[in-house]
This record gives sequence, structure tokens and C-alpha cells, in this order.
Amino acid sequence: MLNIIAISGSLRAASTNSALVAALAANAPADCRVEVYDGLGRLPIFNPDDEGERTPPEAARLIEAVTRADGVVVSCPEYAHGVPGGLKNALDWLVSRDAAVGKPAMLVHASARSLYARAALSEIMRTMSFALYEEVALEIALLGKKPVEMEAILAEPTNRQAIRGAVRAFAGFIRGR
Ligand SMILES: Cc1cc2nc3c(=O)[nH]c(=O)nc-3n(C[C@H](O)[C@H](O)[C@H](O)COP(=O)(O)O)c2cc1C
Repeated sequence: MLNIIAISGSLRAASTNSALVAALAANAPADCRVEVYDGLGRLPIFNPDDEGERTPPEAARLIEAVTRADGVVVSCPEYAHGVPGGLKNALDWLVSRDAAVGKPAMLVHASARSLYARAALSEIMRTMSFALYEEVALEIALLGKKPVEMEAILAEPTNRQAIRGAVRAFAGFIRGR
């Protein structure tokens, strides 16, 4: 059983990215468990002085979750052509640890836009030595949709298949390493 952690870069209650990672968890193939990391909003702002013995509990929880996971999936919006601070902050807590080194990772997308954030996130995660899987790019257009509309879109058989297929492909990448 592969253990995959999924992170949404949005804290918004009606977030399209959070809906997508929840759908990944709900539609994962039988041999994969996708667990959603929900601590982004509780992480203190990264400060290198607070690493080591002073690591805040939520940061320690994130580091531990990523260390334990076989892979990481990220779905992230774009704010002003960049990666939202909350997600960058979470990644910053992982930079000087071993957690990200060689860790399989995949980006998925809830918007057909956000091309700057995608490029920036790829660059950041490659720099952190994540093993970024880029063969499959799951994109489900949820931008501007309300929660009931998102639910209907994510329940469509073709989308459920696409989600399951993307997780299965990522699992194959993880197992092949
Ligand atoms: C402050 C702010 C800045 C944004 N800037 C961009 C942007 O530069 N490019 C873009 O494609 N969308 C931008 N958007 C739109 C968001 O990507 C869109 O609202 C998305 O649905 C947010 O993700 P969420 O639904 O998971 O919260 C911005 C939204 C906000 C709130």
C-alpha cells in the first residue's frame, strides 16, 4: 500500500484546489492511500532560527508526514503570478531537511490558467530535490465553480477515471524508483 500525502495551496473554504485533493483521496486506486495534509494555515512563518530543537509542532508534523509518505501531490492556485505564501512557507520548512530529497512529487491543477505558479512551483520543488513526476498532468477545470458545481464535475465518470488514472500513473512512477 502506497501512502501519498496531498497538499492544497489554498486555505479558502470553497477552494477548488482543496476540492481536487479531496477528490484524489476519495478516488485513489485500491493500492494507494491518499491523505490530505490540512495544517497549512497553522504553520508559523518559516524562520531558520526555529529549525532543529526549536521546530514548531505543526512544522514537525509536516516534516514527519512528508518523510513518511511515499509521494506528495500538490494542487496550488496562482496569486499575482506567483505561488501563494502559505504553500511556499510550508515548502520552506522542508528545504534544509531530508524530507524532500528524492521524494516523488506530482502537481495537479484545478485551473487551466495559473501557468506562472506551475512553472515556479516546478522550479522550487526541483531545486528542493523532489523527484517531480511530469509525464501526467491532471487538470480538472474547477475555476470559478461553486462547491455544488465542483461536486458534480468531480463525480463525472470521466473525471473520476482521470483522477484515478493520474494517481495510478504516479504510483507506477513511485514503484519504479
Ligand atoms: C489575491 C489573488 C490573486 C490571484 N492572482 C491570480 C493570477 O495571477 N493568475 C491566475 O490565474 N489566477 C489568479 N487568481 C485566481 C485564483 O487562482 C482562483 O481564484 C483560484 O480558484 C484560487 O484557488 P482556490 O479555489 O483553490 O482558492 C488570484 C486570486 C486571488 C484571490
